[in-house]
Amino acid sequence: GADGMKQFNLTMQAGGRTEFQPGKVADTWGINGAYLGPTLRVTRGDKVRMRVTNQIGETSTLHWHGIRLPAKMDGGPHQMIEPGATWTPEWTIDQPAMMGWYHPHLHERTAMHVYRGLAGLIIIDDDNKPDLPSEYGVDDVPLIIQDKNFEDDGKLDEDGVEDGTWGVLGDSILINGTFGAEFKVTTRTVRFRILNASNARVYRVGFADNRKFHVVGTDGGLLERPVEVDRVKLSPAERAQIVVRFAPGEQIVLNSVGETERSAGDPEEDDYDLMRLITAQDLADSPDLPSALGGVPATAPPAGARVRTFRLSGSEINDKEMDMNRIDEVVPAGAHEIWEVINTSYAHNFHIHEVDFRVMELNGHPPPEYQRGPKDTVFLPKGATARLSVKFNTYVDPVSPYMFHCHILRHEDKGMMGQYVVV
Ligand code: C2O
Ligand code: CU
Ligand code: CU
Repeated sequence: GADGMKQFNLTMQAGGRTEFQPGKVADTWGINGAYLGPTLRVTRGDKVRMRVTNQIGETSTLHWHGIRLPAKMDGGPHQMIEPGATWTPEWTIDQPAMMGWYHPHLHERTAMHVYRGLAGLIIIDDDNKPDLPSEYGVDDVPLIIQDKNFEDDGKLDEDGVEDGTWGVLGDSILINGTFGAEFKVTTRTVRFRILNASNARVYRVGFADNRKFHVVGTDGGLLERPVEVDRVKLSPAERAQIVVRFAPGEQIVLNSVGETERSAGDPEEDDYDLMRLITAQDLADSPDLPSALGGVPATAPPAGARVRTFRLSGSEINDKEMDMNRIDEVVPAGAHEIWEVINTSYAHNFHIHEVDFRVMELNGHPPPEYQRGPKDTVFLPKGATARLSVKFNTYVDPVSPYMFHCHILRHEDKGMMGQYVVV
């Protein structure tokens, strides 16, 4: 705009009619459309203004997951948008290139709002431009993975979304809102930016032929160098950027296999085909994978760094359920701390608003190399302990809190969430 602001107009709307399956219509919610929302693209240094209008007929919020910004702009449970109202947060993009996302965060109602379709991506660019595939939708492709249950008539089955241990675990996979998705590969290599936007399901993403590929980025940005893997584990809200090599005329399936440690169930139950890929007979050349990506190196917490401990059990953190009126932690501006998260029960994950952190240890060992980049969400299998190196911002606000919580949305809604302020 004229005031140097990059403005995005986002309308959260109900009444969407989405044909996930041919001839069958589901009632869905979306942002500026029937299901999901637009990908917002911004550059470090941009001043942005989001005009978020709520037309879903009930109170909601819109949170910028993974984005560094003042707490009042965060869109957490305190920044409620009443039906018909518009909320207009503004901030300056000030973090390395990454893919974040936006989704509602109304206390006790997040699972349903996300399940019905309210979510979208934010991609941040910066001056570090390693030679990676980067043509959006062609060889730089976001993949939003969600699991749903459909009723016979094609409607979204909402049973369980607000119930039970996990909330909903769907047996039908959507990629970018498409059921039975296919992608036509036209280049030698493709970068996929994968987001697990499911309510509860954990995936181990890879390919049916178990081909190897490279992870180039984590939640909060690029790694220092590519890491070769054959699977990446993603719990709800986690992201990975991967680069995959293809040959002409292939038919490949992106899938998720194996025990995801969500529970001690039958691992077979967790095998899903995610998307079919068909490669063209003629593939355009792609850049060779650079050996250095320019990702920000981890820095160790200073000697004597403050250690805070968070015990996850049932739907509580440190034996407390979320209380909108209680500040759980007070963090000095710019502090570099160690947060130790101890999971005493079944699988959870742990997300901290506004920061990116590094996983120093998982169960006493460094995490797999591909998880050593900037993170905002970490998966904790049953009984696991994680030590996180967390650097906080300097957006001082003793009144408005940021959240930390389990991103299994049923758990978050049940109260597995706490609040911190930066002072
Ligand atoms: Cu994805 Cu508290 O957020
Ligand atoms: Cu968040
Ligand atoms: Cu949990």
